[in-house]
Amino acid sequence: MKKLIIGNWKLNPVTVREAVSLARKIDPKPKHEAVICPPAVFLASVQYPRVGAQDCFWENKGAHTGQVSPLALKSMKVKYCLVGHSERRNTGETEQSIKLKLESLLSVGIVPVLCVGHGTTVEQDDLEVTDVIKSQLQFALKGVDASRVVVAYEPVWAISSGNPYATKKTATPDHAEKISIFIRAKFKPMKVLYGGSANAANAHSYLSQPNIDGLLVGGASLLPKDFNAMINLSL
Ligand code: PGA
Repeated sequence: MKKLIIGNWKLNPVTVREAVSLARKIDPKPKHEAVICPPAVFLASVQYPRVGAQDCFWENKGAHTGQVSPLALKSMKVKYCLVGHSERRNTGETEQSIKLKLESLLSVGIVPVLCVGHGTTVEQDDLEVTDVIKSQLQFALKGVDASRVVVAYEPVWAISSGNPYATKKTATPDHAEKISIFIRAKFKPMKVLYGGSANAANAHSYLSQPNIDGLLVGGASLLPKDFNAMINLSL
């Protein structure tokens, strides 16, 4: 079965030339469903069959200086958009704004990829972790048809860099699978992804878990050889 593998380029690269060139190196016809999420300013230039966005605003138009409209993203053929990434939560994103963004995305027909896991620590056991993500999911998905939403479980401590909680540890496939089972049973989303230091060497161990539908990949998505190997894995 096809998995969904989303490359989150974050704030990389820094020139349009590099962004176009990086996208050209990604296999356009991979075995799995692959999506690349370049910085929003490069969306118009980057050519790839499936592109996503890293964030958006909740209003489509009006006096909102510097914001990115969900409707504008839709017009750029954006299929998926991350919401609630821990790096956004670190800069003040609230549960309320995450919910508003998620609902706006659904209203224009973009699939929200709701990232949860912020507030978990490496010491917490599975039960405590489910408590944290349960409250994040309950808030964001209240009154929402969860079957239209992809959930990405990203333990903040497992994210490779760019956040103050990074520990250089990765979640075990067993832990990621257990949390996915919980999310699936309790919230019934479209898909559950795992994210946090996923790379070419460990991707198979996550993707071979029956309840992990794919990966949200940061650092390794900037390495074409590695990302191409991940999106073409035989399972
Ligand atoms: P990472 O990032 O793969 O570099 O850990 C994942 C993410 O932040 O989405």
